Order: sequence, then C-alpha cells, then structure tokens
Amino acid sequence: MARILITSALPYINGIKHLGNLAGSMLPADVYARFQRARGNEVLYICATDEHGTPAELAAAQAGQPVAQYCAEQHEIQHTIGRAFGLSWDWFGRSSSRHNRDLTQHFAHRLEKNGLIEERVDQMIYSHTDGRFLPDRYVEGVCPHCAYEKARGDQCDNCGSLLDPLDLINPYSAISGSRDLEVRDTRHLYLLQSKIQDRLRAWVDDKGAAWGPFTRSIACKHLDEGLIDRGITRDLSWGVPVAYQGVARSGLEGKVFYVWFDAPIEYIGATAEWAEATGGNWRAWWREDEGAADVRYVEFMGKDNVAFHTVSFPATLLGSGEPWKTVDTLKSFNWLNWYGGKFSTSSKRGVFMDAALEILPADYWRWHLTATSPEGSDSAFTWEQFAATINSDLANVLGNFVNRILKFTESKFEGQVPAGGQAGAVERALYARVDEAIAALTASLEAIEFRKSAQDVRQLWVIGNEYLQEAAPWTAIKTNPDRAAVAVRTALNLVALYARVSAPFIPYTAEIIARSVGEDDPSWPALLAASELARLPVGRPVKAPEVLFRKIEDEQIAEWMTRFGGA
Ligand code: MF3
Ligand code: ZN
Repeated sequence: MARILITSALPYINGIKHLGNLAGSMLPADVYARFQRARGNEVLYICATDEHGTPAELAAAQAGQPVAQYCAEQHEIQHTIGRAFGLSWDWFGRSSSRHNRDLTQHFAHRLEKNGLIEERVDQMIYSHTDGRFLPDRYVEGVCPHCAYEKARGDQCDNCGSLLDPLDLINPYSAISGSRDLEVRDTRHLYLLQSKIQDRLRAWVDDKGAAWGPFTRSIACKHLDEGLIDRGITRDLSWGVPVAYQGVARSGLEGKVFYVWFDAPIEYIGATAEWAEATGGNWRAWWREDEGAADVRYVEFMGKDNVAFHTVSFPATLLGSGEPWKTVDTLKSFNWLNWYGGKFSTSSKRGVFMDAALEILPADYWRWHLTATSPEGSDSAFTWEQFAATINSDLANVLGNFVNRILKFTESKFEGQVPAGGQAGAVERALYARVDEAIAALTASLEAIEFRKSAQDVRQLWVIGNEYLQEAAPWTAIKTNPDRAAVAVRTALNLVALYARVSAPFIPYTAEIIARSVGEDDPSWPALLAASELARLPVGRPVKAPEVLFRKIEDEQIAEWMTRFGGA
C-alpha cells in the first residue's frame, strides 16, 4: 500500500469559483484521489481557501463586511459547494488558521536563521486620503507596457506583464480613487532566493525529471533568468503577522507576510488542521524524518501557479534546512476558456459552481470537464459540446446500457441474477477486450492523463453495448434460454464493473449503479475480467434505477445561453 499526499491549488476566498477553476485543479485532484483510494492506497487529499492578500481585503470591502467575517462566510460557501460537487477532500482548511500562522512564522524564522532573509528599506506608494500604504492591487493606473488604463499594481490584465506598483503611470488608489499619493520608505523582509538558486537547481534537476516538459520548462525558465530576491511582507493588516512566538518583529509591527508566502504553507497547515480534528499525524505526511520519506506527493494546479510551486514554495521548504516533503509529481493545466474568451470572476463571465449545480447534477459537469480537460492545451467550454458529450457518453452509452439490461432482467428473469448456461466464445472475446480496456484505463489514471482516462472508461462502456448487441439476449430467450441467461448474467456483472471504474469520474451515479446490482465493493478491479465478470451471486435481486441521465434538449441550451451568455 502506497501513501499518496494530494493537494489542489488553494482557491482564493474572493467568491464562488467558476468551472475553469474547478477543471484546472480541484476536480482532477479529486478524480485522482478517488482512483488511488479505490486502488487500496492510503490517500490524503488536502485543500483550503486562500484567504489573505489584497484580493480578500478588496472583496470584503466590496461586500461591505469586515474581512474576517467575509472570509468565514465565503469559506463555508466554498466548502459546501465543493462537497456538493463530490470533492472528496480529507480536509478543506483555511489559510487564516492558527496552524498556518504558526507554520508561516516558523518558516520565516528558520529562513532568517539560515541567512536567507534580509530586512530592506523599500519604496512604496502611500495614500494620504486612505491613510495607508497601497500594495499590489490596491493601486491601479496606466500600464507602462501597453498603456492599458486599468492595470493593477501587481499585474496588467491586458498584456499580462507582472508589475510593481511604482511602474504604473498616473496611479490612483483602488480604495478611494484618490491620486493624492506619495512614494514613502517602508521596511520589509526579503527572501534571498539568489542564495538558494543552486540548491533549487539541483532539486529541479532531480525531481523535475518526473514533471513533464511543460512544468519543467517553466521552472527552468525562472532558474535560467536568475532568481530575484523577493519581498515577503506587506503593509496590510489582514494576514499572518510578521512575528515569532507571539512577539512582533521590531520595526515591522503591524505588517503581515505576503499572501504567496503563506498560501502554499497552508498545504501543511491544513494537514495540521486535519490532524487536530481527526487525531491523525500530520508530520508523518510532511516530515521526511517522521515517516514522510515514503509518501508520494502529487500537486494539481493551473499553469499560472507553476512558478510558485516549482521555485518559491520549494525555496521556503529547502531554505528552512529541515527535512520537509517536497513535490514529487506536479500536474498542471492550461486554461479552460468560455467560448473564445476567458472565464472571469471579476466580470462574472461563464458558469460558476453554484449556478452549475442549480441546473444539472454534479456528475454531468464532472464528466464533461474531465473528458475535455484543458490538459495538453487550452480548451473551450461551449453549451453545444457540453450537450453532445452528455447525450452521447452518459445518456446513450452508459445510461442506456444499465437501464436496458436491468429492465430486461426485471421482465424476463424476475429481477434476479439468472442461473443457467456457461460462458462461451462471445464471453471469452469480451473478457479479452475488457482486460485490455481496464489495463488502459488503469495506466492512464496512473499517468494522471484525464482526457485519455475518460476515453478509456467510455471504451469500457462501449464494449458492453457491443457485447449486448452481439449476445442479444432478447432474441436468444425465445430459442435458447440458457444462452440468454449467460448474456444477462454477464451484462449485470458489467454493470457492477462500471460502478467501480466510473466512480472516480461520476461518483454519485456510480453509487446508484452499484446499488442497482447490490455491488458494495468499491475496490478497483483486477485485470482478470473472467473472474471480475462472474462476481454477482446467482439469485441476487437487482433493480432498474430511475433514468440515470436526462438528455439535454435544444430548448435547455437556448435557455442557458440567455441566462449565462455564450456564443
Ligand atoms: N489562490 C491561488 C490561485 O488561485 C493559488 C494558491 S495555491 C497555494 O491562483 F499553494 F499557494 F496555496
Ligand atoms: Zn499592459
């Protein structure tokens, strides 16, 4: 039994996430976690809300709430919706937890002891009107690269350039709009990444071999350009205080750590939250000297997060000089687009997780987003494609198979797994195909390839349909009842098999399917179809479920287009 630690990038607290966020981190991590649990491995799937930084403060201000209250409410909302999507987190934590505070302060302390942190005097924009400094997104202005008028202090949304607030032309406060600003000196801590460059390079050379070229090239690009020392504190009040063991650092009173410093540490923090709540041992997952040496750590994230996870966070972990677990496998995703453009939280473009569940059950979304995963390249969501995958894969191929064979069993075999007959050539051909298909599916899930794995599980469903077509129990029953019994028994076993292999993708439906044939073993099937397809005891009562998937009609598409836009 392997031990597998899984994390998905922590969603920002500032509002309900859209389908692009879901498809590029939390959902694929969940599919993988469910698969590995079914394989019998010990899995810990950790996620949390990313609650600090200017996005949180600005969103709270917009909602007219104190930031702590805003975060508490939004955390609950995201937690509930994630669960409703079937996300099987072992823990969904909060980066504002005291566990994360203590760990973040611990890491800063260790880094400083190791000579990797330096205090510097920085120039920052101060607003007289607001009576405060304006870090990052708190200041907006004209982009020096593309002249876009509403560039933010940390980044231009138009040309994508990373910016420093001082780069902006004609800056103004994002809080008050005031232009009564000045540049003032302020003290901050810098992480001397330049000093750990060589150790990081060695680490990337070692671990990066397993990451795939896309992820590795992002890490190497940063290393090749040379790492720059990075300010890890901010003039904000919401965040992890710059303090150690309850004592504020003199000269930096009232300041906090930068959100990108504390957020990844929350992977560990959330594991500590989990341990406290469940009696688990978080150090056995994170400290190589306390059991984590045999843990396989797999991270899931969008491509914009890769540099933080291949350079900045490892710099924190390695720089501490302590034996922390670092990432083994990093799976990154491109963008899921909304038609030709982008999903956008700020302009509310696209479908968000709450609205998605209002119109259809989670499994419909889970299936489509996995089958069209933005894996090798960006992919686009369209209602037409969504309807096409649901109607063909789920309704026609899987749903029909299950309903058809169970209805037939009810009408011709008294709703029981029939006795009689023996497997023949048709079944032996089926076993060979099923063996091959399970092997392919298992391999693609092990390789963390989602589009391929969705095709592979679909292929298993197709094989069942083709088998039924050929074995045709509805014809055989008139002339050769034993043959019909074999076909029905085999097909019912296929139903049980589908429940098990489909569960990572469509867990709710898989459970209904399992119940219809009394299958209560969630384990991943062995590569031995001859026995896997002879599991159900003869005489077991079975029952057709309600329609598993409703087809999506043209009128619904039209209605959703009006409601959500598109085209
Ligand atoms: N909140 C960030 C985003 O959505 C991701 C943070 S990942 C973490 O882009 F590791 F830093 F937490
Ligand atoms: Zn720009």
